Amino acid sequence: MQNIQEYIAQNKERFIDELFELLKIPSISADSAFSQDVINTAEAVRLSLMEAGCDIVEICETDGYPIVYGEKTIDKNLPTVLVYGHYDVQPPDPLDLWDSPPFEPTIKKIPQHPDGAIFARGACDDKGQFYMHVKAVEFMIKTNQLPCNVKFMIEGEEEVGSKSLSAFVADNQEKLANGIILISDTGMIANDVPSITTGLRGLSYVEVEVTGPNRDLHSGLYGGAVANPINVLTKMIASLHDENNHITIPGFYDKVEELTNEERVEMAKAPFNLEDYQKALEIESVYGEKGYTTNERNSIRPTLDVNGIWGGYIGEGAKTVIASKAYAKISMRLVPHQDWKEITRLFTEHFESITPKGVKVKVTPHHGGQGYVTPIDTVGYRAASKAYETAFGKKPIPQRSGGSIPIVSLFEKELGSKTILMGFGLDSDAIHSPNEHFGIWNYLKGIETIPYFYQYFTEMSS
Ligand code: BES
Ligand code: MN
Ligand code: MN
Repeated sequence: MQNIQEYIAQNKERFIDELFELLKIPSISADSAFSQDVINTAEAVRLSLMEAGCDIVEICETDGYPIVYGEKTIDKNLPTVLVYGHYDVQPPDPLDLWDSPPFEPTIKKIPQHPDGAIFARGACDDKGQFYMHVKAVEFMIKTNQLPCNVKFMIEGEEEVGSKSLSAFVADNQEKLANGIILISDTGMIANDVPSITTGLRGLSYVEVEVTGPNRDLHSGLYGGAVANPINVLTKMIASLHDENNHITIPGFYDKVEELTNEERVEMAKAPFNLEDYQKALEIESVYGEKGYTTNERNSIRPTLDVNGIWGGYIGEGAKTVIASKAYAKISMRLVPHQDWKEITRLFTEHFESITPKGVKVKVTPHHGGQGYVTPIDTVGYRAASKAYETAFGKKPIPQRSGGSIPIVSLFEKELGSKTILMGFGLDSDAIHSPNEHFGIWNYLKGIETIPYFYQYFTEMSS
Protein backbone atom coordinates (compact mmCIF):
# COMPACT_ATOMS: atom_id res chain seq x y z
CA MET A 1 0.00 0.00 0.00
CA GLN A 2 1.28 3.46 -0.84
CA ASN A 3 2.52 5.60 2.02
CA ILE A 4 1.95 9.30 2.50
CA GLN A 5 5.54 10.36 1.79
CA GLU A 6 5.45 8.68 -1.62
CA TYR A 7 2.06 10.16 -2.39
CA ILE A 8 3.34 13.65 -1.52
CA ALA A 9 6.50 13.17 -3.60
CA GLN A 10 4.40 12.19 -6.62
CA ASN A 11 1.74 14.88 -6.22
CA LYS A 12 3.39 17.89 -4.66
CA GLU A 13 3.41 20.03 -7.80
CA ARG A 14 -0.30 19.43 -8.21
CA PHE A 15 -0.93 20.17 -4.50
CA ILE A 16 0.80 23.53 -4.92
CA ASP A 17 -0.95 24.34 -8.23
CA GLU A 18 -4.37 23.58 -6.76
CA LEU A 19 -3.71 25.79 -3.74
CA PHE A 20 -2.60 28.57 -6.11
CA GLU A 21 -6.01 28.43 -7.85
CA LEU A 22 -7.75 28.88 -4.51
CA LEU A 23 -5.44 31.72 -3.49
CA LYS A 24 -6.12 33.62 -6.71
CA ILE A 25 -9.73 34.27 -5.70
CA PRO A 26 -9.96 37.37 -3.44
CA SER A 27 -12.42 36.01 -0.88
CA ILE A 28 -12.38 39.08 1.38
CA SER A 29 -15.38 38.63 3.67
CA ALA A 30 -15.11 42.10 5.24
CA ASP A 31 -15.53 43.96 1.94
CA SER A 32 -18.87 43.59 0.14
CA ALA A 33 -17.23 44.59 -3.15
CA PHE A 34 -15.78 41.06 -3.16
CA SER A 35 -18.95 39.16 -2.31
CA GLN A 36 -19.07 37.33 -5.66
CA ASP A 37 -15.47 36.21 -5.15
CA VAL A 38 -16.31 34.87 -1.71
CA ILE A 39 -19.20 32.91 -3.21
CA ASN A 40 -16.97 31.64 -6.04
CA THR A 41 -14.45 30.43 -3.48
CA ALA A 42 -17.14 28.38 -1.74
CA GLU A 43 -17.84 26.72 -5.09
CA ALA A 44 -14.12 25.99 -5.60
CA VAL A 45 -13.98 24.42 -2.14
CA ARG A 46 -17.04 22.31 -2.97
CA LEU A 47 -15.36 20.98 -6.11
CA SER A 48 -12.16 20.21 -4.20
CA LEU A 49 -14.08 18.10 -1.67
CA MET A 50 -15.82 16.22 -4.49
CA GLU A 51 -12.49 15.53 -6.17
CA ALA A 52 -10.99 14.36 -2.90
CA GLY A 53 -13.63 11.65 -2.83
CA CYS A 54 -16.26 12.79 -0.33
CA ASP A 55 -19.58 11.09 -0.95
CA ILE A 56 -21.77 13.98 0.15
CA VAL A 57 -20.81 17.59 -0.59
CA GLU A 58 -23.16 20.51 -0.09
CA ILE A 59 -23.15 24.26 -0.28
CA CYS A 60 -25.21 25.30 2.74
CA GLU A 61 -26.71 28.72 2.21
CA THR A 62 -26.88 31.04 5.22
CA ASP A 63 -27.91 34.66 5.83
CA GLY A 64 -24.28 35.46 5.06
CA TYR A 65 -21.71 33.50 3.08
CA PRO A 66 -22.21 29.79 2.41
CA ILE A 67 -20.77 27.00 4.50
CA VAL A 68 -19.26 24.16 2.51
CA TYR A 69 -20.07 20.79 4.03
CA GLY A 70 -18.66 17.43 2.98
CA GLU A 71 -18.52 13.92 4.35
CA LYS A 72 -17.15 10.47 3.72
CA THR A 73 -18.61 7.67 5.79
CA ILE A 74 -16.69 4.44 6.14
CA ASP A 75 -18.73 2.79 8.89
CA LYS A 76 -21.23 4.33 11.32
CA ASN A 77 -19.59 2.44 14.21
CA LEU A 78 -16.21 4.08 13.63
CA PRO A 79 -15.23 7.48 15.06
CA THR A 80 -15.84 10.66 13.08
CA VAL A 81 -13.38 13.51 12.65
CA LEU A 82 -14.91 16.92 11.89
CA VAL A 83 -12.54 19.24 10.05
CA TYR A 84 -13.23 22.97 10.38
CA GLY A 85 -11.54 25.73 8.39
CA HIS A 86 -12.32 29.01 6.68
CA TYR A 87 -12.04 30.02 3.04
CA ASP A 88 -12.46 33.76 3.64
CA VAL A 89 -9.43 36.01 4.09
CA GLN A 90 -8.54 39.35 5.64
CA PRO A 91 -8.41 42.47 3.46
CA PRO A 92 -4.92 42.74 1.93
CA ASP A 93 -4.30 46.44 2.52
CA PRO A 94 -2.05 48.34 2.74
CA LEU A 95 -1.48 47.11 -0.82
CA ASP A 96 1.68 49.12 -1.47
CA LEU A 97 3.54 47.17 1.22
CA TRP A 98 3.21 43.87 -0.69
CA ASP A 99 6.26 42.79 -2.67
CA SER A 100 4.03 40.76 -5.00
CA PRO A 101 0.26 41.20 -5.53
CA PRO A 102 -1.76 39.52 -2.73
CA PHE A 103 -3.92 37.47 -5.07
CA GLU A 104 -1.17 36.40 -7.47
CA PRO A 105 0.53 33.64 -5.47
CA THR A 106 4.32 33.69 -5.82
CA ILE A 107 6.99 31.35 -4.46
CA LYS A 108 10.02 32.91 -2.83
CA LYS A 109 12.83 31.58 -0.68
CA ILE A 110 13.38 33.37 2.63
CA PRO A 111 15.55 32.50 5.67
CA GLN A 112 12.65 30.96 7.66
CA HIS A 113 11.62 28.94 4.62
CA PRO A 114 14.72 27.86 2.67
CA ASP A 115 12.59 25.48 0.55
CA GLY A 116 10.39 28.38 -0.48
CA ALA A 117 7.14 29.88 0.74
CA ILE A 118 3.92 30.75 -1.06
CA PHE A 119 3.22 34.47 -0.78
CA ALA A 120 -0.47 35.40 -1.02
CA ARG A 121 -3.30 36.63 1.21
CA GLY A 122 -4.77 33.51 2.84
CA ALA A 123 -1.72 31.33 2.10
CA CYS A 124 -1.43 30.48 5.81
CA ASP A 125 -4.71 31.90 7.20
CA ASP A 126 -6.48 29.73 6.30
CA LYS A 127 -6.64 28.47 2.71
CA GLY A 128 -3.25 26.76 2.75
CA GLN A 129 -3.97 25.19 6.12
CA PHE A 130 -7.47 23.84 5.51
CA TYR A 131 -6.42 22.62 2.07
CA MET A 132 -3.82 20.36 3.73
CA HIS A 133 -6.80 18.47 5.15
CA VAL A 134 -8.47 18.17 1.77
CA LYS A 135 -5.27 16.69 0.32
CA ALA A 136 -4.62 14.41 3.31
CA VAL A 137 -8.16 13.04 3.04
CA GLU A 138 -7.75 12.68 -0.73
CA PHE A 139 -4.71 10.49 -0.06
CA MET A 140 -6.55 8.34 2.48
CA ILE A 141 -9.62 7.88 0.28
CA LYS A 142 -7.73 7.24 -2.99
CA THR A 143 -5.47 4.65 -1.36
CA ASN A 144 -8.25 3.04 0.71
CA GLN A 145 -6.64 4.00 3.99
CA LEU A 146 -9.25 6.26 5.56
CA PRO A 147 -9.63 4.50 8.92
CA CYS A 148 -12.72 6.37 10.17
CA ASN A 149 -15.41 8.80 9.02
CA VAL A 150 -14.70 12.39 8.14
CA LYS A 151 -16.82 15.53 7.88
CA PHE A 152 -15.75 18.91 6.56
CA MET A 153 -17.21 22.26 7.50
CA ILE A 154 -15.45 25.13 5.78
CA GLU A 155 -16.96 28.58 6.37
CA GLY A 156 -16.62 31.98 4.73
CA GLU A 157 -17.13 34.40 7.62
CA GLU A 158 -14.43 33.54 10.15
CA GLU A 159 -12.56 36.79 9.67
CA VAL A 160 -15.74 38.76 10.38
CA GLY A 161 -16.99 36.87 13.43
CA SER A 162 -18.56 33.59 12.15
CA LYS A 163 -22.09 34.91 12.59
CA SER A 164 -23.84 32.47 10.27
CA LEU A 165 -21.82 29.53 11.50
CA SER A 166 -23.08 29.90 15.09
CA ALA A 167 -26.66 29.42 13.95
CA PHE A 168 -25.67 26.64 11.53
CA VAL A 169 -23.95 24.67 14.30
CA ALA A 170 -26.86 25.12 16.70
CA ASP A 171 -29.34 23.98 14.03
CA ASN A 172 -27.34 20.97 12.77
CA GLN A 173 -26.13 19.14 15.83
CA GLU A 174 -26.91 15.71 14.42
CA LYS A 175 -25.39 16.35 11.01
CA LEU A 176 -22.22 17.65 12.65
CA ALA A 177 -21.98 14.96 15.34
CA ASN A 178 -18.35 13.89 15.77
CA GLY A 179 -15.77 12.36 18.06
CA ILE A 180 -13.22 15.12 17.63
CA ILE A 181 -12.87 18.44 15.82
CA LEU A 182 -9.65 19.02 13.93
CA ILE A 183 -8.52 22.52 12.94
CA SER A 184 -5.41 23.83 11.26
CA ASP A 185 -5.72 27.59 11.69
CA THR A 186 -2.96 28.32 14.21
CA GLY A 187 0.82 28.06 14.25
CA MET A 188 3.71 26.14 15.76
CA ILE A 189 6.94 27.27 17.42
CA ALA A 190 9.40 26.47 14.61
CA ASN A 191 9.89 23.89 11.88
CA ASP A 192 12.28 21.97 14.12
CA VAL A 193 10.22 22.65 17.27
CA PRO A 194 6.75 21.24 16.60
CA SER A 195 3.99 22.33 18.96
CA ILE A 196 0.28 21.82 19.33
CA THR A 197 -1.91 24.78 20.24
CA THR A 198 -3.74 24.05 23.48
CA GLY A 199 -5.40 27.38 24.07
CA LEU A 200 -6.99 30.28 22.27
CA ARG A 201 -7.89 33.63 23.75
CA GLY A 202 -11.38 35.05 23.77
CA LEU A 203 -12.17 38.38 22.21
CA SER A 204 -14.31 41.45 22.72
CA TYR A 205 -14.14 43.97 19.90
CA VAL A 206 -15.71 47.40 20.23
CA GLU A 207 -15.78 50.69 18.40
CA VAL A 208 -15.91 54.00 20.24
CA GLU A 209 -17.03 57.39 18.99
CA VAL A 210 -16.40 60.69 20.76
CA THR A 211 -18.45 63.69 19.64
CA GLY A 212 -17.61 67.26 20.61
CA PRO A 213 -19.04 70.31 18.83
CA ASN A 214 -21.71 69.83 16.19
CA ARG A 215 -19.31 70.71 13.35
CA ASP A 216 -15.59 70.93 12.61
CA LEU A 217 -14.18 74.19 13.96
CA HIS A 218 -11.31 76.56 13.23
CA SER A 219 -8.63 75.51 15.71
CA GLY A 220 -7.55 79.09 16.26
CA LEU A 221 -10.98 80.58 16.85
CA TYR A 222 -12.25 77.73 19.04
CA GLY A 223 -9.11 75.81 20.14
CA GLY A 224 -8.65 75.77 23.90
CA ALA A 225 -12.25 76.82 24.50
CA VAL A 226 -14.14 73.65 23.53
CA ALA A 227 -13.30 70.00 24.05
CA ASN A 228 -11.29 68.53 21.17
CA PRO A 229 -12.66 64.99 20.63
CA ILE A 230 -9.30 63.66 19.46
CA ASN A 231 -7.48 65.06 22.50
CA VAL A 232 -10.19 63.64 24.73
CA LEU A 233 -10.26 60.22 23.06
CA THR A 234 -6.50 59.74 23.28
CA LYS A 235 -6.56 60.72 26.95
CA MET A 236 -9.40 58.32 27.66
CA ILE A 237 -7.58 55.50 25.87
CA ALA A 238 -4.33 56.23 27.66
CA SER A 239 -6.13 55.94 31.00
CA LEU A 240 -7.16 52.35 30.23
CA HIS A 241 -3.70 51.11 31.32
CA ASP A 242 -1.86 52.07 34.51
CA GLU A 243 1.89 52.53 34.93
CA ASN A 244 2.37 48.76 35.20
CA ASN A 245 0.37 48.18 32.04
CA HIS A 246 -2.49 46.64 33.96
CA ILE A 247 -5.91 47.34 32.51
CA THR A 248 -7.84 49.82 34.69
CA ILE A 249 -11.41 48.76 33.87
CA PRO A 250 -13.03 47.81 37.22
CA GLY A 251 -13.78 44.08 37.38
CA PHE A 252 -11.77 43.30 34.24
CA TYR A 253 -9.49 40.77 35.97
CA ASP A 254 -12.08 39.31 38.35
CA LYS A 255 -12.46 36.00 36.53
CA VAL A 256 -8.97 35.69 35.11
CA GLU A 257 -7.47 32.36 35.96
CA GLU A 258 -4.01 32.69 37.52
CA LEU A 259 -1.69 29.91 36.51
CA THR A 260 0.07 27.96 39.24
CA ASN A 261 3.80 28.36 39.62
CA GLU A 262 4.28 24.88 38.25
CA GLU A 263 2.30 25.71 35.14
CA ARG A 264 4.35 28.86 34.63
CA VAL A 265 7.59 26.94 35.04
CA GLU A 266 6.33 24.40 32.51
CA MET A 267 5.43 27.20 30.08
CA ALA A 268 8.84 28.79 30.43
CA LYS A 269 10.48 25.60 29.16
CA ALA A 270 9.25 26.23 25.62
CA PRO A 271 12.17 27.42 23.51
CA PHE A 272 12.10 31.20 23.17
CA ASN A 273 14.83 33.71 22.52
CA LEU A 274 13.99 37.26 23.51
CA GLU A 275 16.85 38.74 21.51
CA ASP A 276 15.75 37.02 18.31
CA TYR A 277 12.18 38.07 18.99
CA GLN A 278 13.20 41.73 19.33
CA LYS A 279 15.50 41.54 16.35
CA ALA A 280 12.83 40.09 14.09
CA LEU A 281 10.53 43.02 14.94
CA GLU A 282 13.33 45.63 15.01
CA ILE A 283 12.42 46.75 18.52
CA GLU A 284 14.91 47.51 21.27
CA SER A 285 12.69 46.19 23.99
CA VAL A 286 9.47 44.32 24.56
CA TYR A 287 6.63 46.00 26.41
CA GLY A 288 3.74 44.81 28.51
CA GLU A 289 2.14 43.91 31.77
CA LYS A 290 4.49 44.00 34.74
CA GLY A 291 5.21 40.66 36.35
CA TYR A 292 4.76 38.50 33.27
CA THR A 293 7.06 37.16 30.58
CA THR A 294 6.59 37.84 26.88
CA ASN A 295 5.11 34.40 26.28
CA GLU A 296 2.75 34.85 29.20
CA ARG A 297 1.72 38.30 28.03
CA ASN A 298 0.79 36.96 24.62
CA SER A 299 -1.13 33.88 25.70
CA ILE A 300 -2.36 33.53 29.28
CA ARG A 301 -2.95 37.23 30.07
CA PRO A 302 -5.80 39.41 28.83
CA THR A 303 -4.97 42.55 26.84
CA LEU A 304 -6.53 45.72 25.49
CA ASP A 305 -5.31 47.25 22.23
CA VAL A 306 -6.34 50.03 19.90
CA ASN A 307 -6.51 48.54 16.39
CA GLY A 308 -7.33 51.76 14.58
CA ILE A 309 -7.88 55.40 15.46
CA TRP A 310 -9.03 58.24 13.27
CA GLY A 311 -10.55 61.69 13.08
CA GLY A 312 -9.69 65.17 11.90
CA TYR A 313 -7.48 66.06 8.98
CA ILE A 314 -5.06 63.44 7.70
CA GLY A 315 -4.53 64.67 4.13
CA GLU A 316 -1.42 66.30 2.71
CA GLY A 317 -0.07 69.41 4.35
CA ALA A 318 -1.74 71.07 7.31
CA LYS A 319 -5.29 72.10 8.02
CA THR A 320 -6.11 73.94 11.22
CA VAL A 321 -9.20 72.22 12.47
CA ILE A 322 -10.86 70.80 15.55
CA ALA A 323 -12.82 67.80 14.39
CA SER A 324 -16.36 67.22 15.55
CA LYS A 325 -15.73 63.49 16.03
CA ALA A 326 -12.99 61.01 16.84
CA TYR A 327 -13.10 57.21 16.63
CA ALA A 328 -11.20 54.13 17.68
CA LYS A 329 -11.51 50.37 17.26
CA ILE A 330 -10.48 48.48 20.37
CA SER A 331 -9.90 44.76 20.89
CA MET A 332 -9.65 42.99 24.21
CA ARG A 333 -8.10 39.52 24.17
CA LEU A 334 -9.54 37.43 26.96
CA VAL A 335 -8.49 34.30 28.80
CA PRO A 336 -10.61 31.33 29.88
CA HIS A 337 -13.39 32.14 32.38
CA GLN A 338 -13.64 35.76 31.32
CA ASP A 339 -17.03 36.15 29.70
CA TRP A 340 -16.80 38.26 26.56
CA LYS A 341 -20.27 39.75 26.90
CA GLU A 342 -19.60 40.72 30.49
CA ILE A 343 -16.26 42.27 29.52
CA THR A 344 -17.97 44.21 26.74
CA ARG A 345 -20.45 45.53 29.31
CA LEU A 346 -17.68 46.41 31.81
CA PHE A 347 -15.78 48.24 29.09
CA THR A 348 -18.86 50.17 27.99
CA GLU A 349 -19.82 51.20 31.53
CA HIS A 350 -16.28 52.24 32.37
CA PHE A 351 -15.68 54.12 29.14
CA GLU A 352 -18.94 56.02 29.53
CA SER A 353 -18.13 56.78 33.16
CA ILE A 354 -14.80 58.44 32.32
CA THR A 355 -16.33 60.73 29.70
CA PRO A 356 -15.33 64.30 30.52
CA LYS A 357 -17.73 67.22 30.26
CA GLY A 358 -18.04 68.71 26.80
CA VAL A 359 -18.17 65.51 24.73
CA LYS A 360 -20.54 62.60 24.20
CA VAL A 361 -19.34 59.01 23.94
CA LYS A 362 -20.87 56.10 22.08
CA VAL A 363 -19.62 52.50 22.39
CA THR A 364 -20.68 50.00 19.74
CA PRO A 365 -19.83 46.32 20.34
CA HIS A 366 -18.72 44.45 17.22
CA HIS A 367 -18.20 40.78 17.87
CA GLY A 368 -16.53 38.52 20.32
CA GLY A 369 -16.20 35.04 21.67
CA GLN A 370 -14.93 32.88 24.46
CA GLY A 371 -11.42 31.56 24.90
CA TYR A 372 -10.67 27.86 24.84
CA VAL A 373 -8.25 25.44 26.46
CA THR A 374 -7.76 21.88 25.19
CA PRO A 375 -7.03 19.29 27.84
CA ILE A 376 -3.95 17.21 27.00
CA ASP A 377 -4.98 14.03 28.81
CA THR A 378 -7.40 12.99 26.07
CA VAL A 379 -7.35 10.49 23.22
CA GLY A 380 -7.49 13.38 20.74
CA TYR A 381 -4.43 15.12 22.14
CA ARG A 382 -2.46 11.91 22.53
CA ALA A 383 -3.24 10.90 18.94
CA ALA A 384 -2.16 14.33 17.68
CA SER A 385 1.02 14.23 19.73
CA LYS A 386 1.92 10.80 18.33
CA ALA A 387 1.14 11.96 14.79
CA TYR A 388 3.62 14.85 15.15
CA GLU A 389 6.18 12.53 16.68
CA THR A 390 5.89 10.23 13.66
CA ALA A 391 6.06 13.01 11.08
CA PHE A 392 8.59 15.32 12.76
CA GLY A 393 10.62 12.75 14.71
CA LYS A 394 10.07 14.89 17.83
CA LYS A 395 7.44 15.13 20.52
CA PRO A 396 5.41 18.33 20.10
CA ILE A 397 5.20 20.92 22.88
CA PRO A 398 1.73 21.95 24.06
CA GLN A 399 1.48 25.74 23.85
CA ARG A 400 -1.32 28.26 24.32
CA SER A 401 -1.75 30.82 21.59
CA GLY A 402 -2.74 34.46 21.84
CA GLY A 403 -5.04 34.40 18.82
CA SER A 404 -8.75 33.74 18.78
CA ILE A 405 -11.06 31.37 16.96
CA PRO A 406 -14.24 32.18 18.88
CA ILE A 407 -16.27 29.41 17.28
CA VAL A 408 -14.19 26.72 19.01
CA SER A 409 -15.81 27.25 22.42
CA LEU A 410 -19.20 27.20 20.73
CA PHE A 411 -18.38 23.82 19.17
CA GLU A 412 -17.85 22.46 22.65
CA LYS A 413 -21.10 23.97 23.91
CA GLU A 414 -23.31 22.94 20.98
CA LEU A 415 -21.68 19.69 19.85
CA GLY A 416 -20.03 18.57 23.08
CA SER A 417 -16.74 17.95 21.29
CA LYS A 418 -13.16 18.86 22.03
CA THR A 419 -11.02 20.52 19.40
CA ILE A 420 -7.45 19.68 18.44
CA LEU A 421 -5.57 22.63 16.97
CA MET A 422 -2.93 21.28 14.62
CA GLY A 423 -1.44 24.45 13.17
CA PHE A 424 1.54 24.36 10.82
CA GLY A 425 2.15 28.09 10.29
CA LEU A 426 4.87 30.19 11.93
CA ASP A 427 4.35 33.49 13.76
CA SER A 428 6.65 35.05 11.17
CA ASP A 429 4.30 34.04 8.32
CA ALA A 430 2.71 37.51 8.50
CA ILE A 431 -0.96 36.50 8.69
CA HIS A 432 -3.25 39.56 8.45
CA SER A 433 -0.19 41.56 7.29
CA PRO A 434 1.31 42.43 3.92
CA ASN A 435 3.38 39.58 2.41
CA GLU A 436 1.53 36.78 4.18
CA HIS A 437 3.11 33.46 3.28
CA PHE A 438 3.11 29.75 4.06
CA GLY A 439 6.18 27.54 3.83
CA ILE A 440 5.99 24.81 1.21
CA TRP A 441 7.74 22.53 3.69
CA ASN A 442 5.02 23.34 6.25
CA TYR A 443 2.24 22.76 3.75
CA LEU A 444 3.58 19.34 2.81
CA LYS A 445 4.46 18.44 6.42
CA GLY A 446 0.87 19.17 7.39
CA ILE A 447 -0.43 16.88 4.65
CA GLU A 448 1.95 14.22 5.95
CA THR A 449 1.03 14.59 9.64
CA ILE A 450 -2.76 14.57 9.27
CA PRO A 451 -3.22 10.94 8.10
CA TYR A 452 -1.22 9.73 11.11
CA PHE A 453 -3.69 11.54 13.33
CA TYR A 454 -6.60 9.66 11.74
CA GLN A 455 -4.79 6.37 12.18
CA TYR A 456 -3.83 6.89 15.84
CA PHE A 457 -7.12 8.49 16.78
CA THR A 458 -9.05 5.53 15.37
CA GLU A 459 -6.73 3.01 17.04
CA MET A 460 -6.80 4.76 20.40
CA SER A 461 -10.59 5.21 20.30
CA SER A 462 -11.38 1.53 19.97
N1 BES B 1 -6.44 31.89 12.33
C1 BES B 1 -6.67 33.08 13.07
C2 BES B 1 -6.49 32.93 14.57
C3 BES B 1 -5.15 32.45 15.05
C4 BES B 1 -3.98 32.66 14.33
C5 BES B 1 -5.09 31.81 16.26
C6 BES B 1 -2.77 32.20 14.80
C7 BES B 1 -3.88 31.38 16.75
C8 BES B 1 -2.72 31.56 16.02
C9 BES B 1 -8.10 33.57 12.78
O1 BES B 1 -8.36 33.57 11.40
C10 BES B 1 -8.22 35.00 13.23
O2 BES B 1 -7.61 35.84 12.63
N2 BES B 1 -9.02 35.27 14.27
C11 BES B 1 -9.27 36.60 14.67
C12 BES B 1 -10.56 36.71 15.41
C13 BES B 1 -11.77 36.73 14.52
C14 BES B 1 -13.04 36.83 15.35
C15 BES B 1 -11.72 37.85 13.52
C16 BES B 1 -8.18 37.10 15.57
O3 BES B 1 -7.57 36.32 16.32
O4 BES B 1 -7.94 38.30 15.54
MN1 MN C 1 -7.75 31.83 10.53
MN1 MN D 1 -7.38 35.38 10.52
